[in-house]
Amino acid sequence: MFNESQIYSLHQKYSHGKYREELLDLVWTHSLIVKEISLQIAHNLKSKYQINLDSDLLTAGALIHDLGFYKCFDDDFNKTEKYILHSQFGYELCHQENIPENLARFCLVHNGIGIYPNIPITLEEEIVTYADCFHSKSYPNYKTLVDIKKMLVIYRPSDSIIIDRLKNKFGLPDLIKLKRKYGQWHLKTNKWLKSIKQK
Ligand SMILES: [Fe+2]
Repeated sequence: MFNESQIYSLHQKYSHGKYREELLDLVWTHSLIVKEISLQIAHNLKSKYQINLDSDLLTAGALIHDLGFYKCFDDDFNKTEKYILHSQFGYELCHQENIPENLARFCLVHNGIGIYPNIPITLEEEIVTYADCFHSKSYPNYKTLVDIKKMLVIYRPSDSIIIDRLKNKFGLPDLIKLKRKYGQWHLKTNKWLKSIKQK
């Protein structure tokens, strides 16, 4: 399985443009947060139901899921592609990099809450997809279940049933420690994003 530093190198390779370092930091830190939420869910499944997940695959999947992000923007960080395409772009980059299909799929299936056409198959894929809903990159912050549902209702009201189903399956993540750990990072990153969007 690809390890953390190998996946970080891929992010370094594909981040680009005048905000290369900042975008790398944005996507990578979001990915670390999604990883921590995913591992927390895996831990709960293990202690409650003795379900064993592949934690290396889960970790790698969480870290790689947004690799296609960089391809949606030009070198000045203007959006050039519909953001929904970042899934497909990430999947294609994985193939270019000879990443095994079971890892590449995390890019493909994590969009939205994992609704068709590319739905999660494994529990690991489903957990990363669910964990990703609890943290946003656009102005980085955490999302509650209520926030997630509000957003889903805008696009397709029936999707809120799916998030309820996932909540019943995986529970709600405990975000308190994460909020403390990445508090400064959120302040710094949001300040930077605001400053470049005002230009
Ligand atoms: Fe994400």
